[in-house]
Amino acid sequence: MHPPIDTDDLDVALDRAAERLRQAQRVAVLTGAGVSAESGLATFRGAGGLWEGHRVEDVATPFAFQRDPALVWRFYNARRANLRSVQPNPGHRALVALEDRFAQPEAQARDVSGSEPFALITQNVDGLHQAAGSRRVLELHGSLRRVRCTACTYLVDRGYEELPDLPRCAECGELLRPDVVWFEEMLPVETWKEAAKATAECQCFLVVGTSALVYPAAGLIDAARDVGAAVIEVNPEATSASRRGGLGLRGPSGVILPQLVQRLV
Ligand code: OAD
Repeated sequence: MHPPIDTDDLDVALDRAAERLRQAQRVAVLTGAGVSAESGLATFRGAGGLWEGHRVEDVATPFAFQRDPALVWRFYNARRANLRSVQPNPGHRALVALEDRFAQPEAQARDVSGSEPFALITQNVDGLHQAAGSRRVLELHGSLRRVRCTACTYLVDRGYEELPDLPRCAECGELLRPDVVWFEEMLPVETWKEAAKATAECQCFLVVGTSALVYPAAGLIDAARDVGAAVIEVNPEATSASRRGGLGLRGPSGVILPQLVQRLV
C-alpha cells in the first residue's frame, strides 16, 4: 500500500511538472509495467507480480528456453492470451495527447536541429501504447505480438492469435521463440540507440510506472539527469529513481497523466 496522497501537494507538483513540460522543446518518456496496471495487467515485482509466481531463471533467460521451451512458451502464451481482452487506459491515452502536443508539424518546423521532439520509450511488451495510438514507440524489451525463429531470420507479427504449445518456423521448421528480450540478452541495437539519443536531446524526461531496477533501461534516467533534463516521475510509490531526485507525482498513471496533460492546454 502506498501512503495517502496529499492532494494539495499533488496539485502544486502537477503545476510544476506542467511548467517544466511547457518549457521543453523535446520530451522523452520511459514507461514500465505500472502504466498498464489499470488495464488489468500484472506488474513484475511486488505482491501478485509476474515474478512472484515465476522465477526469472525458469521463464525469461536463453538458458531456460534451451532447457524447457514448453514451460517458457506456456508462460508467454498465457501472457499473449491475457492481452486479447485488455484495453489501453487513460494513462496510455494521455501519452498519445502528449505526443500530439509535442510532435505537431509546427513544433518540428521550429526545431532546426532535425531532432524528433517526442519519444515514448517503453519496457513493456504488451503493445498497449500502440493500441492507444502512440506513434513513436521505442520498444526496448521487444513485443509479445512478434515471434522469431531460433535458427533463421524469420520474424513475424502474429498479433495475439493462439499459438501451438511449441510453435515452429514457417520457413525452416525450427522452434520459434517470442521476440522479447530475456535476461542476459542484448537490447535491440537500433532501438536502444534511438532511445539514448532521444534521452540525450530532451529537456524533460518522464518516468512512468517503472521500478527503475532493470538496466540498461533504468540508466536512461541518469542519462537524462546528466544532460540537465527535468526528471518527472509518475508512480504511486517512491522508487529507486525517485531516491535519486527529480519531481514525484504520486498516484496511478491513469489518474495523474490525464491531469498533467490537461494542464498543458
Ligand atoms: P516492475 O513490476 O518492476 O515495476 C512496476 C512499477 O509500477 C512499480 O514501481 C509500481 O509502484 C508501479 N505501479 C503500479 N501500479 C501503477 C499505476 N497504476 N500507475 C503507475 N505506476 C504503477 O515493472 P518494470 O519496472 O516495468 O523485463 O520492470 C522492468 C523490467 O523488469 C520489465 O520490462 C521486465 C522485468 O523483469 C524483462 O522481462 C526483460
